[in-house]
Amino acid sequence: MRQPFIAGNWKMYKTMAEAESFAQLFRSYKRKEGVKVAICAPFTDLPVLKRAFSYSGIMTGAQNVHFEDRGAYTGEVSLPMLKELGVECCVVGHSERRAYFGETDETVNKKLLKLLSGSQITPILCVGERLEEREAGRQTEVVAAQIEKDFAGMTEDQAVRTVIAYEPIWAIGTGKTATPDQAEEMCAFIRKKIGELFGQETADQIIIQYGGSVKPANVKEIMAQPDIDGALVGGASLDPEKFLEIVNF
Ligand code: 13P
Repeated sequence: MRQPFIAGNWKMYKTMAEAESFAQLFRSYKRKEGVKVAICAPFTDLPVLKRAFSYSGIMTGAQNVHFEDRGAYTGEVSLPMLKELGVECCVVGHSERRAYFGETDETVNKKLLKLLSGSQITPILCVGERLEEREAGRQTEVVAAQIEKDFAGMTEDQAVRTVIAYEPIWAIGTGKTATPDQAEEMCAFIRKKIGELFGQETADQIIIQYGGSVKPANVKEIMAQPDIDGALVGGASLDPEKFLEIVNF
């Protein structure tokens, strides 16, 4: 049985004061049981969220981590730093980091292995194709290559602890959601690929989220798909009421 997992990705939104007001409001709402919930926030918000979400069952996540423990890497944050904060999850390889900050499948792989071998933090690995790749019918080829490279060198135990977020780049922040059929087709394909690499048991257990313009109006249909276990929500996670509607799908 795979437990539904809905995570918000705040990207570069919300100051500490804004994070505090969101968290106080959001934790006061009645949430449906049995759904895991996380907010992945800018580094400066993490101590605020950890405190504000204590004993609420809501998890706090980072949006990036470096693959070295320490060193001359100006502007970066390491795993020991995240562990001291007590974050429960960490986004890795978001398409915005791949597009604007030189993240490659090689660095994504190193970051995943770092998190999995050095902590109990759940990585949320983002994969997905660009619009021109989808238009050329290359989406499965592109995502298969990402999965192969990003999961390189992992054991089955490590693979199963990794959450995969399928986020077609053309659906991010555009208001253009993939149709439930398109999303399901790709998430089923990803599960099959994980089965080929790590066996059926791992494929049956791994959590796969869909991300890209998820909102209260489309979450139910998306969550009804058999191979979609959750959502990674950008814009709509910034508003506590909208995010509540999503987690209570
Ligand atoms: P939107 O929900 O704003 O389209 O963003 C999706 C996303 O990138 C989540 O990581």
